[in-house]
Amino acid sequence: MRHFTFINEEMHAEKVSLKEIARAVGTPCYVYSSATFERHFSVFKDSVKDIDALIAYSVKANSNIGILATLSKLGAGADVVSGGELQRALTAGIPANKIVFSGVGKTKDEIEAAAKAKIKIFNVESIPELYAINDIAAQMNYLAPIAFRVNPDVSAGGHEKISTGKKEDKFGIAWSKAEQAYAVAETCSNIEVVGIDVHIGSQIDHLEPFEKAILKVGSLIKKLRSSGHNIRSFDIGGGLGIPYGDKSIIPPNPANYGAMVKRLTQELNVEMIFEPGRMISGNAGILLSTVLYVKKGEDRNFLIIDAAMNDLLRPALYDAYHEIEPVRKNPENSQIKKYDIVGPICESSDTFTKSRELPIIEQGELIVMHTTGAYGASQSSQYNTRPLVPEVLVKGNKYEVVRKRPTINDILKSENIPTWLI
Ligand code: LLP
Repeated sequence: MRHFTFINEEMHAEKVSLKEIARAVGTPCYVYSSATFERHFSVFKDSVKDIDALIAYSVKANSNIGILATLSKLGAGADVVSGGELQRALTAGIPANKIVFSGVGKTKDEIEAAAKAKIKIFNVESIPELYAINDIAAQMNYLAPIAFRVNPDVSAGGHEKISTGKKEDKFGIAWSKAEQAYAVAETCSNIEVVGIDVHIGSQIDHLEPFEKAILKVGSLIKKLRSSGHNIRSFDIGGGLGIPYGDKSIIPPNPANYGAMVKRLTQELNVEMIFEPGRMISGNAGILLSTVLYVKKGEDRNFLIIDAAMNDLLRPALYDAYHEIEPVRKNPENSQIKKYDIVGPICESSDTFTKSRELPIIEQGELIVMHTTGAYGASQSSQYNTRPLVPEVLVKGNKYEVVRKRPTINDILKSENIPTWLI
């Protein structure tokens, strides 16, 4: 169920008018719906209800602490990939014993912070990283719980830039070296082997790749156990695709995903860990923007809007499709026009869509880009010295700014002219 719907021909986020938010906060800004977060979390939870499971929300998808606190209240854990994300998760009230730490390049400081917090599991991606964790744990007189992220060499479709489970990808322990890695871990005095981990990619639009990876890892778990390793948890990462409104992609239903996982893992007697990101936050957010100018090119119509690729990178980086709609519906305007929708940044890649059919849109109108709650704000930057885009969280008829727009002075404050020039 969508929580960005029209009331009296005007789009609202739950009960709050987007026009009102635009007036109060300014555009561009992200607007999130609490009800959608709640619904998606409960849909995921229901889909794995017969499984001993931890849902560790993948913080990178949307890392705002207001969102993390919303999910924490619902019982979510967190999958973090940096010391910064760890601090965000803890600040938002996610208990350390529900936090797993993923990523190929954890630094000494990050490992120390995670060990100090006593997180649930370090997902380890190389032997040198294992040794680094062991050394730090020894200095801290700590036994670090680890799982190896293994690379199952499974192709997960989707965009090549977000596929992670093939042997040529930088992720995980090579399949042929996995057993050896567990043997090495048993020789480390401050490491406790607790599980195994895999993550094959993102926006995966069918179940087969998951199935292949789970079957491969399942048989590896049996082998590892027969060699005496205590594998108690199986983390299958995130990656479940979601609908973006381009009818060509119909992602798997979460209930079918859950049933498939249950069928393939019920004999294994493991705690399953899930790291969904996009599935929880993608459709919970929109990017709200104002049309600055309507420009007629030689043979194209450009809508120049105040959001740009620094605010939402996905179309520029992955040719991603986002459904676009005007905030105000005009029932008298049934004429359709084709528009190229672009931002103000001086790069041709600052293009959100080309030749999109939309009702006639005028200068000053508000438009929304749907399904931007995941990898929208969390991938935003200040390129072109455009202040970070603000984030607004709606709950029913209330809303609050959960990340405010910095001023240009805020940006300049963190820089300085070197003393030799003054
Ligand atoms: N776990 C790990 C270890 C991951 O690397 C990721 C995402 C996830 C979980 C969550 O995956 P999800 O459920 O969201 O598919 N920026 C790209 C997506 C990059 C995904 C990176 N890893 C995009 O905008 O499509």
